[in-house]
Amino acid sequence: MFDSLKALPADPILGLGAKYKKDTNPKKIDLGVGVYKDEAGNTPVLNCVKKAEQHRLTTEMSKAYISPGGSPLFNTEMAKLIFGADHNVLAQDRARVISTPGGTGALRVAGEFIKSCKAGTTIWISNPTWANHIGVFTAAGLNVKTYPYYDYDNKTLDFDGMLNAFKNVGSDDVVLLHACCHNPSGMDLNKEQWQQVADVAKTVGFTPLLDMAYQGFGTDLDEDAYGLRLMADAVEEMIICSSCSKNFGLYRERIGACTIIGKSSTAVDLAHSVLLYNARVIYSMPPAHGAAIVETILTSEELREEWYGELKDMRDRISDNRNLIVEKLIENGVTQDFSHISRQSGMFSFLGLTPEQVQQLQDDYSIYLIGSSRMSIAGYSKDNVDYLAQSIAKVL
Ligand code: LMR
Repeated sequence: MFDSLKALPADPILGLGAKYKKDTNPKKIDLGVGVYKDEAGNTPVLNCVKKAEQHRLTTEMSKAYISPGGSPLFNTEMAKLIFGADHNVLAQDRARVISTPGGTGALRVAGEFIKSCKAGTTIWISNPTWANHIGVFTAAGLNVKTYPYYDYDNKTLDFDGMLNAFKNVGSDDVVLLHACCHNPSGMDLNKEQWQQVADVAKTVGFTPLLDMAYQGFGTDLDEDAYGLRLMADAVEEMIICSSCSKNFGLYRERIGACTIIGKSSTAVDLAHSVLLYNARVIYSMPPAHGAAIVETILTSEELREEWYGELKDMRDRISDNRNLIVEKLIENGVTQDFSHISRQSGMFSFLGLTPEQVQQLQDDYSIYLIGSSRMSIAGYSKDNVDYLAQSIAKVL
């Protein structure tokens, strides 16, 4: 049976990491995968996470199964983190959250849920988007279409193109929006634009799916959820996929959440029963450890404060790195305008290099970017930014 298979290339993001590991050049720089690194190039375990794990070690009484929905406490705390404690959808009891294996698990179970609502549903994703969105929703049997999003020439948002494309979206379709820190462009909607998109969603009647993988990496936890909360106020039904990989640094623990908002408490209970079934047939139930860490942090005033501080440190370093590379490129005689990197937000921006220039950076300077020239902003430090800027100047 296996003879019929054709070999597939390595994932463009994860495959790059494997190449980087093999490179013996001491000057190598990994700007590929979206994983936070500190000034020393490490991805440390947060102190609040260490403490929560210690607490878990002494208090955990059983490794028995949980349930397809995961930890109820984690789910309640995630709802408050996503919407803010006072949001209408919580007061109206119209949201249900399940714990998922990471943000990707949330997307996959959301895809399956959408298929349960209507087989062959069209989901509109931004062009560009996180490459795995296409794979995940295609695997769930959805029909994937794209809407314009990033204006590569002007290095800004193609908002007119986006709104124009929404004219072709049907009321039964789903539109995926990045809640903040757009991956891969770093280009987010402003508040007025969110309002306009929410108005269109209301008028057309499509279901928004908000992917929030980077809450807290842009401006702060509340500002980053601004568009999501606005949209949740505007529409009757919505899906949210969130991740604790980046903001809690829990990448390998695989913990995220899939949230659905329904028209009423009764309607969302019915939908929730389907979502639980969807989870059961894909992975049965989510891992528990990451959820236990997150709920411990979010329910302890002390650990929560420590988390806010550690999250701010990560966010500030990324923001400083954005300004740093722009300055260093100018210092190294680059005349092209890279100021968009300072104006954008979150983990990524496009350098705007050709695939050949990206390859040359890898071959000649051991600097690793994915082919689109998406740069993971946390991947360099004050120690190697000069080498990075000089190398970019050379390939330009
Ligand atoms: C990325 O975009 O680099 C991250 O979301 C990691 C991944 O799984 O691709």
